[in-house]
Amino acid sequence: KYYTGYARRFVRMGPQKYILSAGYGDHVPEIYNLDVRPDDIWVTTFPRSGTTWLQEIVWLIANNLDFETAKNVSITKRYAYIDYRAQRFEIRPESKDPSLKALTWTHDDFRTLPNMTSPRYVKSHLPLSFLPPKLLDTAKVFYIARDPRDVVVSYYFGHKLFRYFDADAAVEMKDFWDLFKNDLVMHTPILPHVKEAWLQRDHPNMMFLFYEELQNDVSSVIDKICSFLGKEYTAAQKQQLTEHVNFNNMKKKPIAGLPKKEEETEITFFRKGKSGNWRQYFDEEMTKEAEEYMERNLKDTDMRFPSVI
Ligand code: A3P
Repeated sequence: KYYTGYARRFVRMGPQKYILSAGYGDHVPEIYNLDVRPDDIWVTTFPRSGTTWLQEIVWLIANNLDFETAKNVSITKRYAYIDYRAQRFEIRPESKDPSLKALTWTHDDFRTLPNMTSPRYVKSHLPLSFLPPKLLDTAKVFYIARDPRDVVVSYYFGHKLFRYFDADAAVEMKDFWDLFKNDLVMHTPILPHVKEAWLQRDHPNMMFLFYEELQNDVSSVIDKICSFLGKEYTAAQKQQLTEHVNFNNMKKKPIAGLPKKEEETEITFFRKGKSGNWRQYFDEEMTKEAEEYMERNLKDTDMRFPSVI
């Protein structure tokens, strides 16, 4: 009826099946067998969970608060994104949508990663079980999780932004929720993805965070990351960092590869930057279904998304 135009493939690695792009499915061994270095820093997440926010904080803390570089070099250039080999037009080869031309990029950083100089910063939306098995025992790994209902809303607008829906398809939020809850959207299912990381939260190389935690108190998260990375900064420096990563401030800077002049609509990369925004979009039926979805998927874990103050 309505459809997401990207080529998808179910991939199973161990007991859990995830839906991933064909551009990943063609390169599973290359990604799984990537080398990992002790001074690597990996930021791993389910999409739309606060990846970019966390990447910026982590990179700055690791790089002596080099705000100058952070301002001038896009986050997409400071981190290798290793998840698949795809060119914009390979994802939607059949699309006649001219606006896709504004979104040309190629992702194949898993190819260049082995030749990158250290220290390397790596971003991935793959579940931990799909990443190199030595990752956690070798490098520092971050994971950020976000309430799936907020992810759904953010991801829906993300699909519009990245032109993942067929140009002539009028996909409503409710349709997208149907796809999401039935594990038909790229990277789903979300909760097994999060739980894989949650199970590793006590590993000394793992820092597991919640988007809601950053919303509640970003300064405490900054302190936690500083001690995790063995860095010390003055209160004034940390305050400067807090301001730098403030939503309105980060929103000013375009993400490389996306149209520079984003309109003031919901279809932007830095959209709302809030928790609980799903309430605006979920009707009664969706709310009930989402409650059941959460209950069903959280019954085998003690993990709970923090409430936002
Ligand atoms: P919304 O669409 O709800 O606004 P990712 O980087 O994983 O794709 O996540 C994107 C989501 O994180 C978007 O959510 C975006 O606005 C939000 N985000 C990015 N930077 C943020 C910041 N500095 N503060 C709060 N939210 C931020």
